[in-house]
Amino acid sequence: MSDIESHLLSLMTTPLISILLNFTLEHEVHKKLAESPKTSQELSGILSLDADKLNRALFALTFNGIYTFNEQTYKWSNSPLTDALLDDHKCTLFRWNTCPYFYKKLAQKVSIIKDVQHKDESCESVFVEAAENPDLLKLFQDAMTIVTHGNINEIVQAIDLTSASRVLDIGGGEGGLICELVKANHHITGGNLDREENRASNEELIQSLGLGNKINFFSGNFFVTIPQGFDTLTIKHVLHDWNDEDCLKILTNCRNALEIGNKLYIIDMVLNNTDPNRKLQRFFDVKMMILGNAKERTEENFENLLRQAGFRISSISKARMDSVIEAVAI
Ligand SMILES: C[S@@+](CC[C@H](N)C(=O)[O-])C[C@H]1O[C@@H](n2cnc3c(N)ncnc32)[C@H](O)[C@@H]1O
Repeated sequence: MSDIESHLLSLMTTPLISILLNFTLEHEVHKKLAESPKTSQELSGILSLDADKLNRALFALTFNGIYTFNEQTYKWSNSPLTDALLDDHKCTLFRWNTCPYFYKKLAQKVSIIKDVQHKDESCESVFVEAAENPDLLKLFQDAMTIVTHGNINEIVQAIDLTSASRVLDIGGGEGGLICELVKANHHITGGNLDREENRASNEELIQSLGLGNKINFFSGNFFVTIPQGFDTLTIKHVLHDWNDEDCLKILTNCRNALEIGNKLYIIDMVLNNTDPNRKLQRFFDVKMMILGNAKERTEENFENLLRQAGFRISSISKARMDSVIEAVAI
């Protein structure tokens, strides 16, 4: 088979293989195999799965380097790839990006590429559906928290809070960023504005870190209003969920909550075709486009939006995959 044919074959088979891998991870096959090698019968007994179907799925996976099969003992074991996924962080990120919910959404919505108007599309439905589905919400929150941990030190270093006193994270998810900012800057207090379904996980994190007297959770909608009384705002991995019109509404609300000279920090990828992470940047750009007519943005895109909302960019620094854009209210 030529290189081209083998590349095509790999593209053709990848969606099903990653759906199958996702399924076995969800059922913790890799954890059971880490205890000891097992036959399909043994695995299916423990996991309440159909032995024959599980066997066939594992064979499809094993010929893709996922799990190994011993012809003498008929037992399955982990391969280096499934061993790597014993790391819960890697496993959660893989499961979030390959979960059936997304495959279904992406397949249903890819036709947005034909649509010049795509007025009705937004990520709102993803947040609403997650709020109604506890398993999906947990997977989403866990994945966001893991992504946050990936470059939190660089982000905290890039945000200069020496002259700040009250900092609000907009759409801060489980609250990981604001907690780290408050831990690193003892003189500040903080808040996290997010949807109501994130309250419980926020309060749990804030209490577990002993920050109950320093950080408040605000249940609200950043399209409606942003609480007043904060001199610095942060907004991480939120703007890429929305189209330009919606981002302008959020940024204008941010501006209305601030005084002249106050700062807003945007943490997001900045698209750049020479960036070493450009492959992943373009993956997320298209994922956001299909899910919600949203996008990753170039520096120029951010500059335009910020200018229209009443900000000017004062610096941009890199935090691994992300950039930290410091903008001043004018
Ligand atoms: C992609 S997540 C980013 C979470 C967090 N900033 C992070 O970096 O991990 C987007 C967040 O925006 C929140 N969100 C979505 N729509 C919102 C709205 N209208 N008002 C407030 N928060 C909202 C979601 O609940 C979610 O926590």
